[in-house]
Amino acid sequence: MTLGLSVDEVLTTTRTVRKRLDVTKPVSREVLEECLEIALQAPNGSNLNRWRWIIVDDPQMVARVAGEYRKAVNWSPDGPGGSDETGNAAAIYKRVERGEKILESSNALAEKFDAMPAIVVPLMRGRTDGLDVFNQSAMWGSIYPAVWSFCLAARERGLGTAWTTASCMREREVCEVLGIPMEKFTHIGLLPVAYYEGDSFREAWRKPLSEVLTWNSFEG
Ligand SMILES: Cc1cc2nc3c(=O)[nH]c(=O)nc-3n(C[C@H](O)[C@H](O)[C@H](O)COP(=O)(O)O)c2cc1C
Repeated sequence: MTLGLSVDEVLTTTRTVRKRLDVTKPVSREVLEECLEIALQAPNGSNLNRWRWIIVDDPQMVARVAGEYRKAVNWSPDGPGGSDETGNAAAIYKRVERGEKILESSNALAEKFDAMPAIVVPLMRGRTDGLDVFNQSAMWGSIYPAVWSFCLAARERGLGTAWTTASCMREREVCEVLGIPMEKFTHIGLLPVAYYEGDSFREAWRKPLSEVLTWNSFEG
């Protein structure tokens, strides 16, 4: 089932959903594969398809992956993330616009991460270590459009997603859990997926266009 939203609506209301992810509703493999089929139409350098995808829907595996995410963001049931002792993502949130709100919402995600119906794990073939900007850009740019397309396709089907990269701080451990050969593939993040509660999302705050755009040459 699709919602019939306009392209612009999907593009402007696909949010990082954390608190409103309903982890009690199952998500079928069929709808996940449908979203991924759409995502695979994303552009990628020389059309090399240097990606692999793992979808984790076994509850025990979800819990193990979630455990790594929680460690990365320093979240535990007795002490939600926010302590920056390990230099983790929570420390970053303190320095950014509306950071407290993001942190609160991130903690809500960490709390329910182990109950997610599914976690999508995109992988890119190869390692960026030591590469020049041209090659790094080609690698990152060949996976992120597909990840975002997945999020958009999911939104159109009533599914919420939350793109997260915190687990990259524990890449080795995540790769061990999932059997990923780290010398050949890079773990770039985790995408929990669940049906969302409610039926609409607002446009988010962004720096205004006037602050980020100049014409013809750089200014400022
Ligand atoms: C590269 C990247 C990494 C992110 N990593 C995390 C993360 O580890 N945990 C998390 O809760 N959100 C993460 N986010 C979500 C952002 O916090 C979110 O996109 C931002 O606050 C704007 O909110 P919006 O997506 O709802 O517009 C990440 C987003 C991006 C693009």
